[in-house]
Amino acid sequence: MKKNKIITYLILIIIIILIIFSFTKIFNKKEKNNNTEESTSSTTTTTTTKTTNSTTTTKTTTTTTKSATTSTSKTTTTTKKIDPTNLTGTSSKGYTIEYKEGAYYVGGYLIANKTYLLTKDWEPKNTYKKITPSMDGFCRECIDKEAYKAWSEMRSDASALGLNLWIQSGYRGYYYQQDLYNGYVKRKGKEAADKSSARPGASEHQTGLAFDLNTITNSFKDTKEGKWINNNCYLYGYIIRYPEGKTNETGYIYEPWHIRYVGKELAKKLYNDGAWLTMEDYFGITSKYTN
Ligand code: DAL
Ligand code: ZN
Repeated sequence: MKKNKIITYLILIIIIILIIFSFTKIFNKKEKNNNTEESTSSTTTTTTTKTTNSTTTTKTTTTTTKSATTSTSKTTTTTKKIDPTNLTGTSSKGYTIEYKEGAYYVGGYLIANKTYLLTKDWEPKNTYKKITPSMDGFCRECIDKEAYKAWSEMRSDASALGLNLWIQSGYRGYYYQQDLYNGYVKRKGKEAADKSSARPGASEHQTGLAFDLNTITNSFKDTKEGKWINNNCYLYGYIIRYPEGKTNETGYIYEPWHIRYVGKELAKKLYNDGAWLTMEDYFGITSKYTN
């Protein structure tokens, strides 16, 4: 009888141990699952900044996945610069119109005109002379490095022929241009001002790819220098940006002194054996303000 009692107790103890063991196992499994769920998380942050001419949306998605045995961390960052005026796509002559960081590019060429505006903080990055705040937005030699090299060659070839070329007005920042334009409006009225001076954001002077030579008067075209520039600047990659009789394409009167660097290939095409074409005509784009 005593022996039987001991056996029953032993069996009971074994059953209790087995039950406790099973519970511990189930509980541990549940906890592991909970931990895995907690370590898989996804966060999305969207920041939108609005400036006068542009809307920039930056979307950052971060996904982190962790398991008991392996640990993987993956971060995806997408940055989108949104065209503020929906002008991107294809031009009437089949060239792509892109918007990158505050500027429009048509067929790969930077365009700043009455339709395609630069943002107020757009600055050329790779200039011969560095743009500094103390310049207050005006610098003759803050010209794109490649354009400056071509200019130096052109000036020195001209000099060898006894011609004297100099930069009268080079880089002009957004706010400098704003003051200049407002001055024109005060003196001549808005309609006349818009034919000879660009509104802020519309000037090629902000690009660091264009500048004015010698004297900013119509008489420049009849000087030895003016004639030589008209017939030879394309050989160095420059164009007469606002040719005679093309106001309805460019939006500006003839400016024999204003040259723009586009590289030799395009410059030769626009020179067109002396019958200058405009960038607007060549690429099939407009130059018109919306207001
Ligand atoms: N005179 C040219 C159009 C400018 O102001 O940029
Ligand atoms: Zn100019």
